[in-house]
Amino acid sequence: MSAGMLYGGDEIGALVFDVGHYSLRVGYAQEDTPKAEIPAVVGILEEAAPLPSSIKADSMEVDDKKSDMTPSNAKNKYYIDTNYLHVARRGMEVTSYMKDGMIEDWDLFEKVLDYTYAKCIQSKSVFHPVLMSEAPWNVRQKREKLTELMFEKYEVPAFFLVKNAVLAAFANGRATGIVVDSGATHTSAVPVQDGFVLSQAIVKSPLGGDYITMQCKNFLQQESEIEIVPPYMIGAKEAVKEREKARWTQKKNLPEVTQSWHNYMTKKVVQDFQASVLQVCETPYDEKTVSSIPTVHYEFPNGYHQDFGSERFLIPEALFDPSVVPMRAGMVGNTMLGVGHIVTTSVGMCDVDVRPSLYGSVVVTGGNSFLQGFPERLNRDLSVRIPSSMRLKLISANGCAERRFGAWIGGSILASIGTFQQMWISSQEYKEGGKGQVERKCP
Ligand SMILES: Nc1ncnc2c1ncn2[C@@H]1O[C@H](COP(=O)(O)OP(=O)(O)OP(=O)(O)O)[C@@H](O)[C@H]1O
Ligand SMILES: [Mg+2]
Repeated sequence: MSAGMLYGGDEIGALVFDVGHYSLRVGYAQEDTPKAEIPAVVGILEEAAPLPSSIKADSMEVDDKKSDMTPSNAKNKYYIDTNYLHVARRGMEVTSYMKDGMIEDWDLFEKVLDYTYAKCIQSKSVFHPVLMSEAPWNVRQKREKLTELMFEKYEVPAFFLVKNAVLAAFANGRATGIVVDSGATHTSAVPVQDGFVLSQAIVKSPLGGDYITMQCKNFLQQESEIEIVPPYMIGAKEAVKEREKARWTQKKNLPEVTQSWHNYMTKKVVQDFQASVLQVCETPYDEKTVSSIPTVHYEFPNGYHQDFGSERFLIPEALFDPSVVPMRAGMVGNTMLGVGHIVTTSVGMCDVDVRPSLYGSVVVTGGNSFLQGFPERLNRDLSVRIPSSMRLKLISANGCAERRFGAWIGGSILASIGTFQQMWISSQEYKEGGKGQVERKCP
């Protein structure tokens, strides 16, 4: 294969990368789901001793040859992807390379890309055009830096950047609509018209999956005094009766792990609780209604188990009505907008002419929208907020992969359609026009 061939399509397998705070999704265009989902955090171990450089065949430990982010005599080891990240290691810190929906730590991001090509794609970057997603509010400097990185370091034959909301709309067969994306770090409403983001009308709030995780953790540890023990600590456990104190013993010879890694492993436990137990009420939270709904039984890794009732609904209610958030942990809940409010505010900032087509295609995407009842409640909240003459249609893919990987799937579709092939920034164009090409070619 040579870079001189036609880009994308079936000639050369284009790659699609969808970046997020929770994970990086990567795979080949035209496929239905990403080949790999890699956590968006990296384990870093500072080591004084020199180590052989480059990626080792049997592990993903990537040695640092650069010294710009560490003391000059220190060498870092990086642990990327679940299998390596989830192993208890003395002194390994967990760090994210993302901030506010955008790539922040470029060195770490590069490490993850190196790993991705070597271990997930198992092919050289020079063979594959790359389509990457970006936050709708990504900034010029970061877009140019990424373009430069892909052409200079990875020598990709072609590159393209697309706003993740546009991709999510495409995945649902829409070029116009309002995309409601509830991910890990935020929930946003992004209006899209004919494939372009109406950026002046983007509305977002920090109430996303991570916020719900934090609320769950507070509820479990502080209000219920339930101990959240990550599986790595557990050596043995006994069966106990419901609500009985867990009887477990700690694994022997545990290495001295860092707080950041322990917190990360604890978060995984809470995220499982969150996905298994929580449910969004169909109508605003009401003690009487929820008390008549069956409880859900949940067992923690250390063997403790009990039924959960009204709290199942109260915790995620904050997404739709932030005023229910108790004033704890310094969170001022009621100054934030609920999901329905985010959407109506965003549409309200758009031209009157486009509003009907936005409400006619409300695309719900993002992992946090998987909370049971999320789309139904949004539908209800919107229908009471907007004029009854306005047609409202919510589009939320039913399939797990379709909603979790909405933006990735949109990218997979886009990168394989014939008319898109002329859109790529080719390496030739990059050589001639430089990184500024991204502002010219990618809307
Ligand atoms: N089945 C589920 N039920 C409830 N929440 C879920 C489920 N699956 C994933 N989540 C939550 O969804 C969030 C991740 O969503 P997503 O993959 O869309 O995030 P992201 O795009 O990587 O992050 P961001 O949009 O913040 O950059 C996490 O907070 C996770 O706990
Ligand atoms: Mg996201």
